[in-house]
Amino acid sequence: MNIVIINGSLRKSGATASILDEFKQNLSLHEDVEVSYFQLSDLKVEYCQGCCACYKTGSCFIKDDCEKLSLAISEADGLIIGSPTYASGVSGKLKTFIDRGHFVVEQLLSNTCALSVATYENAGGSSVSQFLKNLFVLSGANNIGNLTVKVPFGENPLNQESTNKKALALSNRLYRAIQKKSSPNLFDLIYHSIALRFVLKPLVKRKGKAYQGVLDRWKKLGISS
Ligand SMILES: Cc1cc2nc3c(=O)[nH]c(=O)nc-3n(C[C@H](O)[C@H](O)[C@H](O)COP(=O)(O)O)c2cc1C
Repeated sequence: MNIVIINGSLRKSGATASILDEFKQNLSLHEDVEVSYFQLSDLKVEYCQGCCACYKTGSCFIKDDCEKLSLAISEADGLIIGSPTYASGVSGKLKTFIDRGHFVVEQLLSNTCALSVATYENAGGSSVSQFLKNLFVLSGANNIGNLTVKVPFGENPLNQESTNKKALALSNRLYRAIQKKSSPNLFDLIYHSIALRFVLKPLVKRKGKAYQGVLDRWKKLGISS
């Protein structure tokens, strides 16, 4: 199985990276797991221009690393996104990628199990987890959970024994969910199907040929329009 990990912090050896490395090590203990680790700060990620051309063509006209990363995510069995808390939200670079990454309308995470990691120093970490959970569920993922860790700036969150334990438990939960191809919980299933049926499908229908790229992707995924 193929698991993509994305570090949304610009600090390659920071608190978020430490926890994501722990996930990588835990998951790599399984012989059938291959982890692809993406450090977002190493990638070229331009701002979304809001032209909506990708909805028609299926891909963005900007030549940077976003399409490559979205493709890796769409082909993955599992996804872990980590972010520090910046002003009660995800990092700017991660948000810029999410805007470009074809997540919700294109149902990028259909057939993917996803979990999030959020670190914070004072307050607002739960807003990051909630934002990523919402993104996962609306994009069609099986949301496995989140690890939200409060840690003083510059300290290693793995010095807290509870962080190691939670990371191991969540790594195992992610592995088992992928292995069993398990479905999202009932609440997430209902939330996702309401969003798909009453919000996304009417939008895509209204847009017609302007959203041909979305229709093509839905067809591949077996989602009726
Ligand atoms: C620009 C900036 C904004 C931040 N905003 C918050 C915040 O709103 N709430 C909070 O608890 N911590 C905030 N922090 C602290 C970081 O979220 C926290 O130290 C995090 O663990 C850093 O992760 P990293 O080492 O992976 O980059 C902020 C840090 C920076 C640099």
